[in-house]
Amino acid sequence: MNSKVSTALLEQANHELFAAHSYKAMALWCSFKDYPGFAEFFSSQAEEEQEHADKFLEFLLERGERPILSSIEVPKPDFSSLSEIAEYALKLEKINSQKIEACYELALETKDYASQPLLLEFISEQVEEEAWADTMISLTKRAECPGASLNLDRHIVKILSEPE
Ligand SMILES: [Fe+2]
Ligand SMILES: [Fe+2]
Repeated sequence: MNSKVSTALLEQANHELFAAHSYKAMALWCSFKDYPGFAEFFSSQAEEEQEHADKFLEFLLERGERPILSSIEVPKPDFSSLSEIAEYALKLEKINSQKIEACYELALETKDYASQPLLLEFISEQVEEEAWADTMISLTKRAECPGASLNLDRHIVKILSEPE
């Protein structure tokens, strides 16, 4: 396997682990602030990101590479409001989309055909990821008074899990 591509995919796996760690930190913040619905939603995102990392790592193994993990950056620990956390989620997802697109460009340049379907799958996945984060921003902005934000918390998992 092209070593530039394998390095990029390993870095991407590491970035997915950073996303998992970040969502875990966001879930903890929401639990601490008594928003159990948002905590549940971000916990499930943390699990999803962990699965994404595993997909990249398993792919590398299948292609005869030995993935070596590196350290994970400290996640952002604090937020001022639910809308700030939603904005941060969108920022995370946008950075992730850019990184996956860069991997795809590299796979095209190096003619690493086997990596391309996996990366395309992630490029489509990112469209959904950015979409829920965008919806979460509108909803949290609309529900800025305490009563409204508690009501939103009760329904957030259901709202964002419904197929569009
Ligand atoms: Fe991901
Ligand atoms: Fe994501």
